[in-house]
Amino acid sequence: MATTILSMKNIDKRFAGVHALKGVDFDLQEGEIHALVGENGAGKSTLMKALTGIFPKDSGEILYLGKPFNPKGPKDSLDAGIAIVHQELNMMDHLTVAQNLFIGRESTKGRGWLLDEKAQNKRASDLLRRLNMDIDPTEKLANLTVGKQQMVEIAKAVSYDLKILILDEPTAALTDREIDDLFVIMRDLAKKGVAMIYISHRLDEIGVITDRVTVLRDGEYVGTEKTSVLSKERMINMMVGRVIYEQPKSHSMVAPDAPVVLKVTNLNAGRQVQNISFELRRGEILGFAGLMGAGRTETMRALYGADPASGSIEIDGQPVLIRQPLDAVRHGIGYLSEDRKRYGLAIRLSVSENSVMAAYDELSPKMLLSLRALEETASTYVDKLAVKTPSLDQLVKNLSGGNQQKVVIAKWLIKNSKILIFDEPTRGIDVGAKSEIYSLMAELAAEGKSIIMISSELNEVLRMSDRIAVMCEGRITGFVDIAEASQEKIMHLATQRE
Ligand SMILES: Nc1ncnc2c1ncn2[C@@H]1O[C@H](COP(=O)(O)OP(=O)(O)OP(=O)(O)O)[C@@H](O)[C@H]1O
Ligand SMILES: [Mg+2]
Repeated sequence: MATTILSMKNIDKRFAGVHALKGVDFDLQEGEIHALVGENGAGKSTLMKALTGIFPKDSGEILYLGKPFNPKGPKDSLDAGIAIVHQELNMMDHLTVAQNLFIGRESTKGRGWLLDEKAQNKRASDLLRRLNMDIDPTEKLANLTVGKQQMVEIAKAVSYDLKILILDEPTAALTDREIDDLFVIMRDLAKKGVAMIYISHRLDEIGVITDRVTVLRDGEYVGTEKTSVLSKERMINMMVGRVIYEQPKSHSMVAPDAPVVLKVTNLNAGRQVQNISFELRRGEILGFAGLMGAGRTETMRALYGADPASGSIEIDGQPVLIRQPLDAVRHGIGYLSEDRKRYGLAIRLSVSENSVMAAYDELSPKMLLSLRALEETASTYVDKLAVKTPSLDQLVKNLSGGNQQKVVIAKWLIKNSKILIFDEPTRGIDVGAKSEIYSLMAELAAEGKSIIMISSELNEVLRMSDRIAVMCEGRITGFVDIAEASQEKIMHLATQRE
């Protein structure tokens, strides 16, 4: 008989204007990996924050190891053996990897008065090696990719003596390799009796790594099932209350005579961007596939003027100079970054402020009058994307992760860019909203906008793109028309080293 180590009963939580948890039950057995799924805003992160004392629950009961458990804060729960890796990165950018790993429990010397940087780096490198993570402990966190930062955060959590590890969307920013490594770490922990709560919108992963699945919908508990007997269709149905079919695109939707709107020739920016040349046509969705680290984001950052680069760029047949993001914006290019917290959103501002932000500079004094019109536009897009927020005045930091992503998308749609670069647009977005975003992208393309879409999910690339550029180690290794595309072909090009 498996032992239940955690049981949450009838948990209730309200925020101003939102009833986030409505009497939710959840239980966890020793050594099991238990998925917690549901649409954006369903209450997953809130339930985990109530468990770890990040904020108090309004009512309900938590039994942990047979006793009532009411942590006053994350430190209490960590002391009790419960760690959480949050959905949004939570570390100090300006510190090194080792410093981040051991914040609050630094290595010391001289009777504990002096920081022993050397010993601490050694401790860090032992830990990272044990977890098979190829990360330099002396590197500043800010210099790592989002994926690597996430791995550091996971390493930090598992370095404690744990009974429960909570992973809130840990794989959203990870490469396939890193995901495999994470699964090895998780299975190892499970063998040692550590129980895990695993939150993810990638339903295929859930089938691979978890033992049981609990579904929340709209703050309510829907049910718990054994993963082995739960089909993906049924899981989706439990999550969204309807069935969603996703099929790959069979042929390009671009008009045969569609003009080239963007032409990039020999773009170079460091090792990650080497002689990149491609064309983008009006109404085209050009997918960029490749393994993480292939240089896709770096290419777009170079194109967008976010990083120094050389090469030539033509828009509508005219050479243009893009030295900084503002130049790109002026030429009608919108960039939806993969790291929304760093580049995409002002999380301390409201939903409507964020949405119309990118459009502000288009306002001449005369047009200031139309601020209200802009707010109305914001509201239209917030509805269109089904952003779950009690009002347009809600601060973005109070939205669930997936809903923050939708606000970034709304922002660039409102700006009315003619070329949209979407870097991992549906990362952290639930299945229902994903399919809304897909239809929206298809609509935009049909209206004549051109879209570059970087995605690490092959299903998504095959579903949305008219054509696919594949990158490997900073170079484009091939273009594939959607009519001829397959997972195998793309993977082959994605691993075609020089
Ligand atoms: N601090 C807060 N203040 C106000 N509302 C909040 C706060 N935190 C969460 N909410 C609201 O509570 C609801 C549940 O949010 P939660 O973050 O738990 O969703 P989630 O299931 O984790 O979604 P996602 O998959 O997008 O991460 C949402 O409507 C959210 O906007
Ligand atoms: Mg969440």
